[in-house]
Amino acid sequence: MLQKKWWHRSVVYQIYPRSFYDSNGDGIGDLRGIIQKLDYIANLGVDVIWLCPIFRSPNDDNGYDISDYKSIMPEFGSMEDLEELIRKANDRNIKILLDLVPNHTSDEHAWFVEARKSRDNEYRDYYIWRDPVDGHEPNDLKSTFSGSAWEYDQATGQYYLHLFSKKQPDLNWENPRVRNEMYDIMNFWLDKGIAGFRIDVIEMIGKKPDEKITTNGPRLHEYIREMNQRTFGKKELLTVGECWDADPEIAKIYTNPDGSELSMIFQFEHFILDQVQGKEKWDLRPLNLLELKKVLSKWQTALKDSGWIGLCLNNHDLPRIVSRWGNDGVYREVCAKMFATLLYGMWGTPFIYQGEELGMTNVKFPSIDYYKDVETINLYHDRLAKGYSEEEIMNSIYAKGRDNARTPMQWSDDINGGFTTGRPWIGVNPNYTTINAMSQINDSNSIYNYYKKIIAIRKQKDVLIYGEYQLILEDDENIFAYLRKLDNDMILVICNFADKPVEYQLPEELDSLKKELLIGNYPDIFEACLQPYEARMYQIF
Ligand code: NOJ
Repeated sequence: MLQKKWWHRSVVYQIYPRSFYDSNGDGIGDLRGIIQKLDYIANLGVDVIWLCPIFRSPNDDNGYDISDYKSIMPEFGSMEDLEELIRKANDRNIKILLDLVPNHTSDEHAWFVEARKSRDNEYRDYYIWRDPVDGHEPNDLKSTFSGSAWEYDQATGQYYLHLFSKKQPDLNWENPRVRNEMYDIMNFWLDKGIAGFRIDVIEMIGKKPDEKITTNGPRLHEYIREMNQRTFGKKELLTVGECWDADPEIAKIYTNPDGSELSMIFQFEHFILDQVQGKEKWDLRPLNLLELKKVLSKWQTALKDSGWIGLCLNNHDLPRIVSRWGNDGVYREVCAKMFATLLYGMWGTPFIYQGEELGMTNVKFPSIDYYKDVETINLYHDRLAKGYSEEEIMNSIYAKGRDNARTPMQWSDDINGGFTTGRPWIGVNPNYTTINAMSQINDSNSIYNYYKKIIAIRKQKDVLIYGEYQLILEDDENIFAYLRKLDNDMILVICNFADKPVEYQLPEELDSLKKELLIGNYPDIFEACLQPYEARMYQIF
């Protein structure tokens, strides 16, 4: 049975610190910048902030390549800055989650620097080394960031495993010393008063590279349970696992309400619906709404009473949702509000990614030279070498590249969108002159204030937290509609995904009931017809 937990009611705001707000003019966002913007975040009504990695790192993968887990990236500030941020956030009833990266380190981490010195170095076994096979890589495992997952180390004559960039060697979790190190790191941060962790690619720590098993390895859950017992277990902390390969049955193990593993995992299955099946995310195909309804609805019902999920439409690895599955032109505003309505009516803990609350969009930089993301740059060269045309590759990058989410927050229509007084580390989206926080905060019709309102509605209604989910109008190709029901309480959410008006007919039993509009994205409402990207949330009596 599901016990009620504080994070069931929470809304989490995700910050990519490098691109959030620069307080000292060096072009890079920092911790003091976040402190300065705490009121902006608190005003939305969120309860938790998740900070993407803030630890010392050479930044091959913007902080997901950590060279010292217990110190702060100097570009972001100091330990005192973090402590102040935790304190000032807590003063506003906001908790802080840190990003834990247990699967790999930077190749500049002291453990790896030692490990690669010799085969008998005491840190050698912290990582995964294999002899060449016939003078080649041990097998054909691929890195997520293009090319082989094995890198040859000249000095010691062996390959090491890197499921991400070659500057991110994978840790060997079979080694109990590695596990102890990681638990020690986690406790170090928990002692600073944080509320938990988002755990990077947790599904990979049980890998078996010789069998080419990267996710969901045989000892994965044994490690997570040990981690739980040695660190956050029994402390009522929020832990959310990044799991791309979990189905609902696996999710139930991760998020067992007995508290033996994690509080929740992210549900990401819908994000593969716009790629050619069996191919990579860069191989594009249009979204089919019927498929989206099927996947999201499956996750809305499958874990009821036996687990919990994090809900998101955006994060630092994903393109902006209005550009991806909506409209970032004339209907951008209604569209952003439509996605918010869809998500905030659902079961699970919603996560907002910085700028989502402003309806920020994808970016199209003129050439690859403007891009900073290691995944994007590797993809570009890999596909060019394989014979893809420049145009094809750039179209994939425009649609799916991670830098779409990483352009600086658009605070105002000042130079650089008010993000920095210096030269920003990555280009600002030129649409900052019209899309920015300053123009939205005091406009009661803005996307920002729509988020604020819908978060407040969610908080008042138990039915939105614990109510049963039921998809309706299942076969409608344009409309995504569902009910939430708890005892005698009922909510209806109805969203038009089309850029044209769409007529609808509610099931008879609903049609006759009295409805009160809680929130919607159009000022005038027509019975039985939704305007382009219209969304409504009704209380049903
Ligand atoms: C998932 C993170 O979200 C992504 O940004 C990162 O590149 C990889 N894990 C590797 O740490």
